Amino acid sequence: MNVPNHIAIILDGNGRWAKAKGMPRSYGHVKGCANLETICDDMKELGVKYLTVYAFSTENWKRSREEVEGLMKLFRSYLKKCLKIAERNKMRVRVIGDTKAFDQDIQDRIAQLEEFSKDYDELYFQIALNYGSRDEILRGVRRLAQDAASGKVKPEEIDEEIFESYLDTAGIPDPDFMIRTSGELRLSNYLLWQMAYTEFYFTDVAWPDFDKSELIKAIEKYNERDRRYGGVKGE
Ligand code: IPE
Ligand code: IPE
Ligand code: MG
Repeated sequence: MNVPNHIAIILDGNGRWAKAKGMPRSYGHVKGCANLETICDDMKELGVKYLTVYAFSTENWKRSREEVEGLMKLFRSYLKKCLKIAERNKMRVRVIGDTKAFDQDIQDRIAQLEEFSKDYDELYFQIALNYGSRDEILRGVRRLAQDAASGKVKPEEIDEEIFESYLDTAGIPDPDFMIRTSGELRLSNYLLWQMAYTEFYFTDVAWPDFDKSELIKAIEKYNERDRRYGGVKGE
C-alpha cells in the first residue's frame, strides 16, 4: 500500500454524532478529541510523515458561547496531554492559524508544546486552530507587502516558493490526501492554496467513529487514484 506522505483531515461531525446518541454536542467534542490521540498513533504506525488536522476554524467563533468555552477547555487539556503523545510518537507538533485570538494561557501551552517537540522528526503533526485559509493568506500577504515596501523582496521576484514561505505552513509539503468525515462535501476554508493538487476523500462516518480501519479504507481508495498533475498517463 502506497501511504500518502501528508494527510490533511477535516474532523467533522462531533456534534451530530453526540446528538444521535441523545447526548450534548460537548460529549461529541470530548470523544472527537480522544480520537485525535488514537489517530496520531495510527498515522505513525502506518508510516504517514505529515498529518494536519482542522480543529477550530476562524468561523467557529460563531457557535454558542457555551460551545466555544467548552472547546477552549478541551484545547487546554488536550495541549497538555499532547506532550505525552508527542514524546511517544517522536512527533513534532505545530499549530497553524492565528493563535493570538486565544487566551494567553492557551498561547503559552501551544508555545510549550511546539518548543518541547521541535526536534522530533518521525511524524509532523499540524493542528489548525483559529485557522482559515483566507485569513492565513491575508496575514501572509500583509507581511509580504511590508517586506516589498521595505525593499527586502522585489515584487518581480515573488514566485510560489517565496509566497509559500509567508504562509503558516511554510516548510511543510502540500497534502497528498484530504479526508473529511461526516458527509459534508466542502472545504470550509481549509488549506485552499496548499490543496491545489490534493486528492479528496469524503466519508459519512462521523469523526468520533473514524478509526484505524476507516483510515486504511481511505488510504486504499487513495491508492486507486491516478495522479497526473496535468500530464498524460504513461508518460
Ligand atoms: C467538528 O465537529 C469539530 C469542530 C468544528 C470544532 P462539529 O462540531 O462541526 O460537528 P457537527 O458538524 O456540528 O456535527
Ligand atoms: C470545519 O467544520 C471546521 C473544523 C472541522 C474545525 P465545520 O463544521 O465548522 O464546517 P461547516 O460549518 O460545516 O462548513
Ligand atoms: Mg461540522
